[in-house]
Amino acid sequence: MKTAISSLLFLLIIACKGGDDNQNKGISNIKDLKTRQYAIQGQQLYLQYCSNCHQEDGTGLKRLIPPLKNSDYMLDDVNRSLYIIKNGLKGSITVNNVEYNQPMPENSKLSPIEVAQIATYIYNVWGNEYGLITPEKVKEALSTAP
Ligand code: HEC
Repeated sequence: MKTAISSLLFLLIIACKGGDDNQNKGISNIKDLKTRQYAIQGQQLYLQYCSNCHQEDGTGLKRLIPPLKNSDYMLDDVNRSLYIIKNGLKGSITVNNVEYNQPMPENSKLSPIEVAQIATYIYNVWGNEYGLITPEKVKEALSTAP
C-alpha cells in the first residue's frame, strides 16, 4: 500500500513537471483561483486568436507585430487593451520605443467573458501580475472609446 501511494505521488510529480512549460508555469504561479481559471481559458483563446501574430510567448514579430510581453504600451492602459482586443487597431503606435504601423483585425465575435479571459491571461503571465479582469470591466471599457 505504501509503495502504491509513493509511486502514485511520483507519477503525479512527473505529470506536473511534464506539462510545465514556460506558459503553464506562468499560469501555475497565479495564486488567486478565479484569476487562474480565467487565465487557463484565456490561454486557449490566446492560442486560437492571438498567437499567430503576437507569438505564443508574446514577443511579437520583428517590426511588424508589437510584443505583448513587457509591452509598455499594454501595461500603460488596461481599458485601451480591452478595446483593442475587441475592435482591433489601425495607425501608428509606439511600443517600447519601436514604431509599429500594421492593422490588427477586430475580433467582433468575442464575448465580454472571452475578452476578460484573454486579458486576464496576458496580464498575468510573462512576469505580469495584474490580477483578475472581469467581464464587467470589459463591458465598461468597450462602452467608452479610448
Ligand atoms: C493579424 C495579426 C494580429 C492578431 C491575430 C492579433 N494582433 Fe494584436 N496587434 C497586431 C498589430 C499589427 C498591432 C499594432 C497595430 C498598429 O500598429 O496600429 C497589434 C497591437 C496589439 C496591442 C497593443 C500594442 C501592444 O503590443 O501592447 C495589444 C494589447 C494586442 N495587439 C493584443 C492582441 C490580442 C490579445 C490578440 C488576440 C485576441 C491580438 N492582439 C491579435 C496584430 C495582431
